[in-house]
Amino acid sequence: MVDVILGLQWGDEGKGKIADYLTPRYDIVARFQGGPNAGHSLDFEGKKFVLNTVPSGIFHKGTLNIIGNGVVIDPVRLQEELGRIEHECPDYRDRLLVSRKAHLILPTHRILDAASEASKGEHKIGSTLRGIGPTYRDKTGRSGIRVGDSTEPGFMELYQKTVQEHLRQIQAYGYTAFDLAAEEEKFFASMDFIRQLQLVNSEYVINEAIHAGKKILAEGAQGSMLDVEFGSYPFVTSSVTLAGGVCNGLGVAPKHIGKIYGIFKAYCTRVGSGPFPTELNDDMGELLRKKGHEFGATTGRPRRTGWLDMVALQYTCMLNGVDELIMMKSDVLCGIDQLKVATAYNTPGGTTREVPANLCSAELKPIYQDFRGWPNELPHDKGYDALDSNFLTYVEFIEQTLKTPVRVISLGPERHKTIMR
Ligand code: IMP
Repeated sequence: MVDVILGLQWGDEGKGKIADYLTPRYDIVARFQGGPNAGHSLDFEGKKFVLNTVPSGIFHKGTLNIIGNGVVIDPVRLQEELGRIEHECPDYRDRLLVSRKAHLILPTHRILDAASEASKGEHKIGSTLRGIGPTYRDKTGRSGIRVGDSTEPGFMELYQKTVQEHLRQIQAYGYTAFDLAAEEEKFFASMDFIRQLQLVNSEYVINEAIHAGKKILAEGAQGSMLDVEFGSYPFVTSSVTLAGGVCNGLGVAPKHIGKIYGIFKAYCTRVGSGPFPTELNDDMGELLRKKGHEFGATTGRPRRTGWLDMVALQYTCMLNGVDELIMMKSDVLCGIDQLKVATAYNTPGGTTREVPANLCSAELKPIYQDFRGWPNELPHDKGYDALDSNFLTYVEFIEQTLKTPVRVISLGPERHKTIMR
């Protein structure tokens, strides 16, 4: 069976910590979409790591890690990332498999990302500029280059042809702020490194593992509201971040999908542009940003912050078929007297509990329910029932609204600050 862990909001829910926490129960951890736009933070034994492309199981001896076909790989960044963790996991080469079908992010994909964003001016997506959009665009446009192509004799020819096409597009944008020769030097050096990794047909590896009764965890990146189909389009990423993406991104049949763990913060954040109905542009927003250290793990950008949005959460629980919820960063709300939770939206067409097709309407306003806050500290070592009663009311309201149990409550970044119910 393949269990899935994914974010239910706009990303940065804390998937890295929880995937790392759940890993000892799994034989394999696999990434199925996204690329180095992700930043999964892990914090243990006083050490901090940020993973971008590598699955969060890499720090557990005995866990196999797979970068699936649905992921897009920037060889330069992957080499840097593996360099950062080499000291902690000197045996990573034995425990990391890379799909031959994963698409490569070329230097010109990154340049195209920058050129496209620059051309949009104030309407920019707020992309991480990692080349994600252009790489997925080439994939669906049937002109991408895959990891496996790099070991074929025609690789250089394919590369040159693709780059020529990209340069035509970059010129059309009128974009000139780049040094392709320098970028290519790094790219080809890293391609030599990538070819030394275990490149496999990961769909076979995963299906053989399923049939052998192994336990697999598929680790999502970004969040459900950034999904290319159902997210706050066009302010989304370019991959399928929902549970359905596991089938395409790993080559797993739907009948092999097991439990879906949905992870959310006790409040909301978003990086980049796009609609955010419960956003707080005031002192409370600033407080959440400061207390929650809400700065991008990948780009360092300050995250936008806001109250919990149950309309969006109900929508993403529905789309993913979430079985169990994991609530993160409850400690950040400690000491706030009065909390708000959006339960519906006011729109020009009336009150709704549905996420509208166009979430960008300026006239959409959340309707809030108030909740009493909880004290400055929540004990992480005395179990669920010892937690403050106002906090328990908040959790139980979420469970009842989503008709789904909250199984894990995280009260801090470290592994041990986690309550299992
Ligand atoms: P892209 O995926 O880099 O093209 O960015 C598209 C949008 O998704 C931007 O608003 C990014 O800030 C956002 N985004 C991409 N990856 C992440 C992530 O891992 N966490 C949170 N937001 C992300």
